[in-house]
Amino acid sequence: MIPADLFPPRIQLANTPTPLQKMERLSRQAGVKIFFKRDDFTGSELSGNKIRKLEYLLADAVAKGADTVITCGGAQSNHCRATALAAVRAGLASLLILRTGDPANPPQLSGNILLDCLAGSEIVWITPEQYRAREEIFEREAQRLRSEGRKPFIIPEGGSTALGAWGYVAEMEELVADLKRLDGDDVKPTTVVCATGSGGTTAGLAIGARLSGAAIRVLGVNVCDDREYFVAIIDAICRQFNQTWLPGESAEIPAYDIVDGYVGRGYAQSQPEELAAIRDLVRLEGVVLDPVYTGKAYFGMMAELAKNPKIFGERIVFIHTGGLFGLFPIADQFADIV
Ligand SMILES: Cc1ncc(COP(=O)(O)O)c(C=O)c1O
Repeated sequence: MIPADLFPPRIQLANTPTPLQKMERLSRQAGVKIFFKRDDFTGSELSGNKIRKLEYLLADAVAKGADTVITCGGAQSNHCRATALAAVRAGLASLLILRTGDPANPPQLSGNILLDCLAGSEIVWITPEQYRAREEIFEREAQRLRSEGRKPFIIPEGGSTALGAWGYVAEMEELVADLKRLDGDDVKPTTVVCATGSGGTTAGLAIGARLSGAAIRVLGVNVCDDREYFVAIIDAICRQFNQTWLPGESAEIPAYDIVDGYVGRGYAQSQPEELAAIRDLVRLEGVVLDPVYTGKAYFGMMAELAKNPKIFGERIVFIHTGGLFGLFPIADQFADIV
């Protein structure tokens, strides 16, 4: 148990604890026990993994007297949509810096973008090239808001900061309690698999696993960039976390790994076999994944299991981190396979 007084202040946004469900048919097919932790059930419009991080990040924004949160992501960012809606609940305005090929002709109002607009977010469209210098754009927009007398609060990409990682430290505590209900106090060795998009979820899970002391291995499947890129990001989050909340353990980075090789065509670009895996899981278990994160991570996990069913040990928990709204803008890509 992590001492309750170590947790930073949070505002409650997520419906937790989320269920841990055994995928019976999938487990039989794969020859290994596979459970899904249903973080897609953290809410409806405000669903997925990002809310867990936002509980801590928005508490900080409110405590600092902010009136507007600024964040960034891809055009169909789940994180931006969750931030826009969560900001409303916290009584804040939001400004979203969204990446698109042609900012003069932004994508149509669908999926997460529709929800961003319904929530009344101000949207600033930028090119992928400008996105690489997003820190400068954050500063420019923050300055503009300040000059209008407002108080901005910046949430970096994906909410993947040491503070945001608390959301997944808390989730790991929840998961250990789930596993104890199955196993008793001695939790059996378990591999936790999640999608890695900006690193905060993987970092929080890894820190939480170490603090729990349970035999839990954390693996992220990267959906963009590569293993080296994410190890640098996740280690930096863990280091910052240790310095801030676990000062005696500053040097100790928790164990985790990144399973590289499943980025496919690139971030938010799907291959037919990934879409077929999403379809097949819906037909097998009635569970719907998203194409950008969970679908890719699941596809990678199943591809590794097809090579060696015991590669992840006897029991796997796949974290379903949500993202459903990202499915609808690419509906036409499913036309030939449904
Ligand atoms: C649905 C979904 N799953 C997983 C992730 C990855 O989480 P993280 O950004 O913390 O690596 C994201 C966001 O990037 C997401 O939107």
